[in-house]
Amino acid sequence: YSANIQQLPPDPMFGLKARYVKDTRENKVDLGIGAYRDDNGKPWILPSVKLAENLILNSKDYNHEYLPINGLPEFTSSAAKVILGNDSKAITEDRLISTQTLSGTGALHVAGLFIREYFKSNDQSDNTLPLIYMSNPTWANHFQLFELLGFKTATYPYWNSNSKSLDLDGFLNSIKNAPKGSVFVLHATAHNPTGLDPTTDQWKQILNLISENNHLPLFDSAYQGFSSGSLEKDAWAVREGVNNNNYKFPGILICQSFAKNVGMYGERIGAVHVVLNEHNSILNNAVKSHLAKIIRSEISNPPGYGAKIVAKILNTPEIYSQWEKDLITMSSRINRMRQELVSELQRLQTPGTWNHITEQQGMFSFTGLNPEQVSKLENDHGIYLLGSGRASVAGLNPSNVKYVAQSIDKVVRE
Ligand code: LMR
Repeated sequence: YSANIQQLPPDPMFGLKARYVKDTRENKVDLGIGAYRDDNGKPWILPSVKLAENLILNSKDYNHEYLPINGLPEFTSSAAKVILGNDSKAITEDRLISTQTLSGTGALHVAGLFIREYFKSNDQSDNTLPLIYMSNPTWANHFQLFELLGFKTATYPYWNSNSKSLDLDGFLNSIKNAPKGSVFVLHATAHNPTGLDPTTDQWKQILNLISENNHLPLFDSAYQGFSSGSLEKDAWAVREGVNNNNYKFPGILICQSFAKNVGMYGERIGAVHVVLNEHNSILNNAVKSHLAKIIRSEISNPPGYGAKIVAKILNTPEIYSQWEKDLITMSSRINRMRQELVSELQRLQTPGTWNHITEQQGMFSFTGLNPEQVSKLENDHGIYLLGSGRASVAGLNPSNVKYVAQSIDKVVRE
């Protein structure tokens, strides 16, 4: 068998990180992996996390026992309220089943396994798996994650590189032409990698057609709070899908990550939420038991530490308010950096237009730089971003933003 195992190329994100770490240039800049950095370019432990952590570590009940298979109940129930809102009908009508996962990637994996077993569309009497549709472009890991589970993947047009805006017509046509009962993976907010989200009106058109064509919407919510600074605003699309009765979806899946919005990347805190169309306690229990089987057979039970911290933040009003402030600190610093980068590029009269960088939102900017320019930035200037031209704006700070603008200016002119 060994002859069939060929070495794969390094992961695009973590391979980039490894090259950055090896680079000995003092002025190197990391605009690769989407992880928040403060004004000094350092990882930031959120004040809300410190408050929650203190309470937990000093509590007399503190221990490292196993969590239940479906996770810490006070975490999953409050996580559902963060994404759906306290008064969501899915919660009040008991149509929601949640399970704790290994952050957003774990949520997508559990969602994929669940779809593979239980989502058979009407059109697919031969039991073929539904096609998984993803935006073009999307987070690179989406493809391998679903393909490893045996799914075929397809893309829907999203980014129009000429206008640097949403290709809505292409997107809508894809929804119409997809085999009925396909799965549409939707970035809930702060689209990765483009930083471009549909408007509320565009979302309505998208969701309407997904519903008319009996597709399953799967929301990937990894950056709630990063687009607008408001948890509520950033959950608009998910809440519209869940609460508007005009849509008749076969169900809704929501994959929720807390890696970014509590800044606990390595603790792997997340959840998958299954929203059913109507309350049916037998089905509810059945879904819960199948999610539990998936978790038990794969990881036995989810990790506790991060979930306890997030549950404490979400269930302690003063710490929750601090968290809301922390989200504003992060999102507004990123926005400031977008503005500084663009005004510096404009001051240098760098050829091209750069306004899209300030119009985009969330952690990333799809700069429009081509692979050759990206590789010059890395090789000649020690500035690391993805080959697609995606920059993690959080990697900019007052000490490096001018250097980055000057370097972009040079590679664009070369
Ligand atoms: C990113 O897109 O940079 C993040 O989601 C980190 C990752 O795991 O790829």
